[in-house]
Amino acid sequence: MAKPITSFHCSACGTQHKKWSGRCDDCGEWNTIVEEAPLSTGPATKSLGAVRGKAVPLSDLSTSEAPPPRTHSGMNELDRVLGGGLVPASAILVGGDPGIGKSTLLLQAAASFANAGLKAVYISGEEASAQVRMRAQRLGLTQAPVQLGTETNLRDILTALEKEQPDIAIIDSVQTMWADNVGSAPGSVSQVRAAAHELTTFAKRNGMAVILVGHVTKDGQIAGPRVVEHMVDTVLYFEGERGHQFRILRAVKNRFGPSDEIGVFEMTGEGLQQVTNPSALFLSERDKPAPGSVVFAGIEGTRPVLCEFQALVAPSPHSQPKRTVVGWDGGRLSMILAVLEARCGIPFAGLDVYLNVAGGMKITEPAADLAVAAAILSAREDAALPPDTVVFGEISLSGALRPVSQTENRLKEAQKLGFSGAIAPTRSKTGTQSGMKMQQMADLTAFVGDIFGAG
Ligand code: TYD
Ligand code: MG
Repeated sequence: MAKPITSFHCSACGTQHKKWSGRCDDCGEWNTIVEEAPLSTGPATKSLGAVRGKAVPLSDLSTSEAPPPRTHSGMNELDRVLGGGLVPASAILVGGDPGIGKSTLLLQAAASFANAGLKAVYISGEEASAQVRMRAQRLGLTQAPVQLGTETNLRDILTALEKEQPDIAIIDSVQTMWADNVGSAPGSVSQVRAAAHELTTFAKRNGMAVILVGHVTKDGQIAGPRVVEHMVDTVLYFEGERGHQFRILRAVKNRFGPSDEIGVFEMTGEGLQQVTNPSALFLSERDKPAPGSVVFAGIEGTRPVLCEFQALVAPSPHSQPKRTVVGWDGGRLSMILAVLEARCGIPFAGLDVYLNVAGGMKITEPAADLAVAAAILSAREDAALPPDTVVFGEISLSGALRPVSQTENRLKEAQKLGFSGAIAPTRSKTGTQSGMKMQQMADLTAFVGDIFGAG
């Protein structure tokens, strides 16, 4: 009889190893490699081709069925991130750092869906009922028709869900769930995988939507195997800086809507409040235009968002000057510094460069390149940019400026918030009646010359 093959997985990054060792050579974590139960412990079976199964019924793509109605929770920021409301029988994973507000968000979501007429069940594996009730009281949700359960045994949870037949179940969190048919400890790769698999298949079979809460590891991935992200229809990240009250719910994968969509919330004493105008919020702490500060007109998903880049450039006391970035990509900053140096002859050797996105926002768009370059140059030259001006545009390695998508939407949002001018690449499609004073540049050298009178 063939010996079952045991395998080993890193519980931090999910990498498979042939044998146990103290340290995962993929992610470098210590004591994270765990033994996995073999997939099949029975004798080796014949290949699938040898014994035919039942033929799967096939059909063509045309359909007369209307798409299933989506349920709006009434929390517009949440509905937007879900792609326009909750799709029945969908599986959603919400990841985020501990203490960022996942449980708060999902208790509020459960209450909103329940008030919108869905039968909602909230299962907490982390907190006692009294704790969840206290939170509900703090959030003013004690009257919402949400059914609460506190349990970690997956079998018992599935039995309860089968009996109750809810429209939506929230599982807080998938790492605390424990399937008694899997040998390893809760939180291990096999347990998380089994829990996610059982819950999503149960949801699809019973027409129930399920929201799984997932913890993230130090490097910002959802803990447990990446395969959980493939099992669900939608993956949302709840992010924000501890010191700031803003929280951003970001869709990183969505089978039922645009990904990259964001919802903005503010954490208050009475829970999360929706922020309907994020640009105004992100710019609210801005004083007068100062050297190093630039307003970027960005697009998040389908919506324009204005935010402020702040840069500081100072002589470095270190032999290796520092490059520190918060809210943007460090690699991209090095690229822009290199382009400024190579194409415009502006050296950064011996200078520390710090870059920050105000308000705890994270920007991933390449359209922010020009705003970053402007902030760094403005800090280096100690010269503020023209007031009431927004900046956007992508920088190529040749130093040329490339037009970016949705220019008109960016300009409209800037105008709405009282800005009167914009610096953008040439060939940007500005439309006709934007009414903004446009300064369009072909390359970075022209930008440096026009704005800072050098280069
Ligand atoms: P929580 O939802 O428990 O976070 P997570 O589930 O992601 O671990 O939120 C915890 C934080 O939120 C905690 O530091 C307190 C704060 N908070 C408020 O500021 N206001 C509130 O109304 C609530 C319920 C929590
Ligand atoms: Mg929690």
